Amino acid sequence: MIKLIKISKSFNGQKVLNELDLDIDPEEITVIIGQSGGGKSVLLKHIIGLIRPDSGQIIIDGVDIANLNDKKLTETRKKFGMLFQDAALFDSMTVGENVAFPLKEHTQLSGKEINKIVNDKLNLVGLDNITHKMPSELSGGMRKRVGLARAIALDPKIILFDEPTTGLDPIMRDSIDRLIVSIQKRTKATFVVISHDIESTFMIAHKIAMLYQGKIVAVGTPDEIRSSNNSFVRRFIKDLKAGVRDQGSGVSSQESGVRAC
Ligand SMILES: Nc1ncnc2c1ncn2[C@@H]1O[C@H](COP(=O)(O)OP(=O)(O)O)[C@@H](O)[C@H]1O
Ligand SMILES: [Mg+2]
Repeated sequence: MIKLIKISKSFNGQKVLNELDLDIDPEEITVIIGQSGGGKSVLLKHIIGLIRPDSGQIIIDGVDIANLNDKKLTETRKKFGMLFQDAALFDSMTVGENVAFPLKEHTQLSGKEINKIVNDKLNLVGLDNITHKMPSELSGGMRKRVGLARAIALDPKIILFDEPTTGLDPIMRDSIDRLIVSIQKRTKATFVVISHDIESTFMIAHKIAMLYQGKIVAVGTPDEIRSSNNSFVRRFIKDLKAGVRDQGSGVSSQESGVRAC
């Protein structure tokens, strides 16, 4: 469904992604986990075509989007829903208008049909009777829910989440995690979630991909990752638990022997 082949990207001479390979299977939740500043958002923006790689291929449903022109890229982007790190709601629009936005942009549906979808999606994320509210009146968790309702408005086949629970308290985090799992079960869409939270990752992932020094260094199910004897994987988890932010924490990818998948 999504295949990244030898993706490299540098900013101002700094290599953020380094011949990164990753296969993302359809109809399941893949969590890409890595430390802060490690290139997770950059990777996600490549998948949706907001950033072009310096080299490599990004195959979405059999099409390489790395070299598509802007018009074709816009077409491809309709397959995606995206929940940005800060929910990215339009502050001057009501909740209802926010969720309706992609439907107005990309479909010919009538106002009545759009209203029905808006109510259905808000209901799905556990929000009722708030279409008239402004984003500024909402809590952080509710804003994320509205962002999620907007991301699924067009019933996309692929939904990308950039750190959906960062900045939320533990109770709110768990409720958003549960929502992600239940919506994926219902929609059977392909979910790609970026995280630096190992607990959250174990809770929601079907597959976990570890990003380290610009490469995916290990891929596995939560059980495989949790029970791995590989010293690199164990160290990676330990560092994430400790909240280590320094990329050069002494873990060497050579030491690992874990294959990039
Ligand atoms: N548009 C950009 N221009 C220049 N540097 C960027 C840009 N986007 C990201 N970077 C740099 O790439 C690195 C990875 O960033 P990012 O993907 O946001 O990390 P994270 O894993 O925390 O999401 C950082 O050093 C960041 O400063
Ligand atoms: Mg980020």
